[in-house]
Amino acid sequence: MRNLFLVLALFSIAACSTGGSQSTQADQSTQVDLAAYKAFGEKAGIKKIVDDMFVVILKDPRIKTFFAETDNEYIKQQLTDQFCDQLNGPCEYTGVDMKSSHVGLNIGRQHFNALVEALRISMDQNNVPFRMQNQLLVKLAPMHKDIIEE
Ligand code: HEM
Repeated sequence: MRNLFLVLALFSIAACSTGGSQSTQADQSTQVDLAAYKAFGEKAGIKKIVDDMFVVILKDPRIKTFFAETDNEYIKQQLTDQFCDQLNGPCEYTGVDMKSSHVGLNIGRQHFNALVEALRISMDQNNVPFRMQNQLLVKLAPMHKDIIEE
């Protein structure tokens, strides 16, 4: 039930994410909000969260087979850079775009939700506050359009 709530929350956060944060002052437009990046423990914390997320993924019968023959060290490194980038950290994601890297894998909504659940578990384990977790999830949610094929 909690998982269903999380998934619904994820998509509703995405739907609401465009409002409320505009700045009208020139100096504010250049300010970068690093609160979430810091709450994740900066780059080292993000790396740990991605590592722990993979431990959960590789035990989850719904999705572990997707990662049975992949270069998981490479994927973890890309995810770390991607999350760091999304959280306004000093990183640049240089991996393959989401559509190209997932095309043909036949990823369904249930797989996507399972991966988000693994991320949630890892963020909880690493004491990232719920509000800060949502700062990352709101950036990831729109990617479902490029990742889910079924
Ligand atoms: C928001 C959700 C997701 C994000 C942000 C994400 C991100 C990424 C990234 C950054 C890569 C590496 C891209 C590169 O090659 O440079 C990757 C690859 C991959 N992802 Fe995802 N992913 C997501 C969801 C999923 C889901 C739900 C699955 C399956 C359950 C999945 C399975 C894979 C696999 C198998 C690869 C390796 C593909 C290959 O080696 O050819 N991903 N993903």
